Amino acid sequence: MTTFATQIIQWHHKNGRHHLPWQGTRDPYAIWLSEIMLQQTQVNTVIPYYDRFMQSFPSIKHLAQAPLDAVLALWSGLGYYSRARHLHQAACLIMQNYQGNFPQTRTLIQQLPGIGRSTAAAIAVFAYGKCEAILDGNVKRVFTRYFGIAGYPGESKTQTKLWNKAEAHLPDDHQKHHIATYTQALMDLGATICTQRKPICSACPLQKNCVAFNDNLIEQLPTPKIRKPLLKKETIFLILLQHQKILLEKRPATGIWGGLWSLPELATNNNVITYCQQHLGISVTDPRSLPSFDHQFTHFKLRIHPQFLQVVSHSVSESSPFAWLKPNDALKYAIPTPVKKLLEQHFLTENTVLNHQVIGQNNA
Ligand code: ADE
Repeated sequence: MTTFATQIIQWHHKNGRHHLPWQGTRDPYAIWLSEIMLQQTQVNTVIPYYDRFMQSFPSIKHLAQAPLDAVLALWSGLGYYSRARHLHQAACLIMQNYQGNFPQTRTLIQQLPGIGRSTAAAIAVFAYGKCEAILDGNVKRVFTRYFGIAGYPGESKTQTKLWNKAEAHLPDDHQKHHIATYTQALMDLGATICTQRKPICSACPLQKNCVAFNDNLIEQLPTPKIRKPLLKKETIFLILLQHQKILLEKRPATGIWGGLWSLPELATNNNVITYCQQHLGISVTDPRSLPSFDHQFTHFKLRIHPQFLQVVSHSVSESSPFAWLKPNDALKYAIPTPVKKLLEQHFLTENTVLNHQVIGQNNA
């Protein structure tokens, strides 16, 4: 076996993570779910979501039969909602095309919606013991440093070099049965030792031969992306209150917060009262601004200006895409994180009375 693989497998026995909720199972569904949730999300954040999800949808069949809204509701707060939509879509495809049995090779797994090469490989390794290479964000960092590979890891030239290294350093034929330990070790090393900032090189089993460590390049590798100035957008969120209920609007299936229930929005150059009248058929009074705040997306920052309004009369039908809901009930829906924050802040504080005077006073 290569030194690289031996070293991290040995390291993992003593220092790796062994008791995560998705370990100790070979159920491909449980492993798939965990790998999807763990994309761009830390283990500690994922655990409660994972547990709730598995309880509600314990199998591919349960997930495929569930309405997408119920799936999104359980994802609410975890972000990157396309992951949940793809998961649901893939569960339906597995029911149709594979009679509910999860496919067993990396290439077939990779054809499912929302599953890239590295995630497909991780599932094939953990569920079926296949000898496949992974290359998620953390592992890219380990390889760029250990092998001294310069160039932004998102670039295809750099990616190719990294995949070649990942393939070349898999456990060899004698040690193939350790593939799951090897894979988990790489992930754990990237998450706990070879961290983006302040890596703990003194505790790293790869220190001796690590190019970045030996050449003092830890700070320089991985090569950062050349950043374009961060895009900023602005929007007004409408909190329209009538009889202690607020109006939520279901967003289109695609795009930001696709399929989630959100507060009605309008561009900042609009007059709020005219907009409500002309576009929503709602006559409102007494607009009050709540404090603005930012929500960070991957590629831009959204500045949100919440406006509180009292509804005088309206002609909004109760049917989709609109719903009048008590704030408490709205929180049970699949809603974007900033909407959740707003509702919690302004409606669920201990002494909150649901009328706008109180809210107005709070923010006066
Ligand atoms: N990140 C991605 N997959 C993971 C896993 N299986 N365990 C811990 N962190 C991960």
